[in-house]
Amino acid sequence: MKTIYKSLAIILTLVLVLSLGACQTNNAGNGTEQELVNGQFVGEGRGKGGPVKLELTFENSVINEIKVLEHNESDYTEPVIADLTNQMIKTNSTNVDIVSGATLTSHAVINAVKDAIKKSGAILTAKEAIQESEKAEDISTDIVIIGSGGAGLSAAVEATNSGAKVIVVEKNAFMGGNTNYATGGMNAAGTKYQEAKGIEDSPELHFQDTMKGGHDKNDPALLKVFTDKAADTVYWLEELGAKLSEIGRSGGQSVDRIHKGPEGMPIGTHLMKVFANQVEKLNIEVRLNTKAVEMISEGNKVTGIKVENKNGDTYTISAKAVILASGGFGANPDIVTKYKPELEGFGTTNQPGATGDVFSMLEKLDIALTDMKEIQTHPTVVPRINEMITEGVRGDGAILVNRDGKRFINELETRDTVSKAILSQEGNSAFLIFDQQVVDTASAIKKYRDAGLLTEATSLKELGEKLKINATELEGTIAAYNEYYKGQNDSEFGRRLLNVELTKAPFYGVEVSPAIHHTMGGIKINTNTEVINNSGNVVEGLYAAGEVTGGIHGGNRIGGNAVTDITVFGKIAGKNAAEAIKGR
Ligand code: FAD
Ligand code: SIN
Repeated sequence: MKTIYKSLAIILTLVLVLSLGACQTNNAGNGTEQELVNGQFVGEGRGKGGPVKLELTFENSVINEIKVLEHNESDYTEPVIADLTNQMIKTNSTNVDIVSGATLTSHAVINAVKDAIKKSGAILTAKEAIQESEKAEDISTDIVIIGSGGAGLSAAVEATNSGAKVIVVEKNAFMGGNTNYATGGMNAAGTKYQEAKGIEDSPELHFQDTMKGGHDKNDPALLKVFTDKAADTVYWLEELGAKLSEIGRSGGQSVDRIHKGPEGMPIGTHLMKVFANQVEKLNIEVRLNTKAVEMISEGNKVTGIKVENKNGDTYTISAKAVILASGGFGANPDIVTKYKPELEGFGTTNQPGATGDVFSMLEKLDIALTDMKEIQTHPTVVPRINEMITEGVRGDGAILVNRDGKRFINELETRDTVSKAILSQEGNSAFLIFDQQVVDTASAIKKYRDAGLLTEATSLKELGEKLKINATELEGTIAAYNEYYKGQNDSEFGRRLLNVELTKAPFYGVEVSPAIHHTMGGIKINTNTEVINNSGNVVEGLYAAGEVTGGIHGGNRIGGNAVTDITVFGKIAGKNAAEAIKGR
């Protein structure tokens, strides 16, 4: 649990005190006198990661401070928590809007405040919020970047360091998009960290694994840049403040290649902290709650974008170059089913803003799209709540069983193969089974336990019963698997990485089923990240990087390759855009 006493303390600065201290009662409006409440009260609400505890300080029944005592929500929600508590102080009311993309956290914060108010017995009188009207003035800059995920911020850092003035626009109330959710890690071959562990790897082998995983549909020129630059990009991120020395295995890889955050923490949480520090250090302007709605162009040349602010007002950002880094469309069922109708009704692991807005904005430029029907499901997602359980759990030792308590696949096959195998089991779902040793490998896995996602038991029999699967078969399955571990030979399914003997209680299980995860298709780019139109020409002044682009991953993305993609190509886009506009 995080304990935050100081950093998120929010202190009321508005004119609010009604005859402070002196008055002890108030007219409640119905002729009765209400006692005014003073002092501190703690309230609790349930968030995504567990309880959120807040301490409210009242002065004469007015909330004048809210301290965050404890929460286990993702780091990217901290500005959301700060913003909501600030609004509640300003209005002396809990009548505030839920923040899209942080719904559970928003509810937790509001419920914690309501709980504290209830405990205090205070009757609040709401105050009119002083509307800070957002500016909607036309402006100009060197480079405007759409999206503040890993691709957008890699580009922003590189372009700023190359001397360009950058504005990043982000439609959400916080930075990070799907990058906030990235968990397992980032792939790179031939790094000093692999070498230190005696892992023999090379960009060529990474290229081959990715091509094979993508069913040979990957764009070879883009893939070559990607695999050649991956290791240097790990070091570049480390120069910015990241730590990526831990290594594990993701599906479809010949060797351990996925570089993880410190102590196995989710890679997205780690990298977004690094990027947020850079934004501050380099004074990069990020306009939140600002949605790109239109491309501005003259013939084949892009000259800026039109954006809409929180109040619905539009204005123009003129720029010498525009970088598209707006992510994928995995949360837009209309586009998903247009290209892959069989995914109708599937859940998604993506943030709600992954809606592919820019595709319609680009129609007038006749942009070429590629591989749009290549949409990936992640095999291990908790049904109904769409919480992804990282592939790292399997890489660190977990197995998959069906309702009969039996294994049915090499768990470290590529995602498309594992997804298909799960969907052909009874109930279209399966169960990840592991022990305490696997939980101990990574803080990302401990988070699932702390959030109450895992079923826990002291024996395999008890676990099977709790999960309502065949417990006797489950015991036999684990006994057989442990024998494969001892002999280092999975004669049943050919799993090559047998790294844990599943013996250490407590044992854990969780039901999983595939959900939409990654959209491999998107805007066609060349190796300079310049956007290509349907005539095969470069669109002047327009660059793209990250999940909004297509071609790198072919027909199926390998786990850990997207973070590499967004940072390698985000960096290239920032550099090239900044170089191209020099002297203009
Ligand atoms: P994003 O990070 O999604 O950022 C795009 C941003 O653009 C968003 O903030 C969005 O709100 C904003 N935007 C969109 N439209 C507009 C608009 N019109 N105006 C303004 N802003 C706009 N990959 C890995 O390699 N390793 C992992 O461990 C991993 N784990 C994952 C776990 C989950 C649950 C998910 C969903 C994905 C995971 N991925 C992982 C995939 C990877 O996280 C994404 O592919 C990657 O983060 C996309 O980065 P991006 O910068 O292209 O887009
Ligand atoms: C995961 O951690 O399983 C997701 C990794 C990815 O999407 O690359």
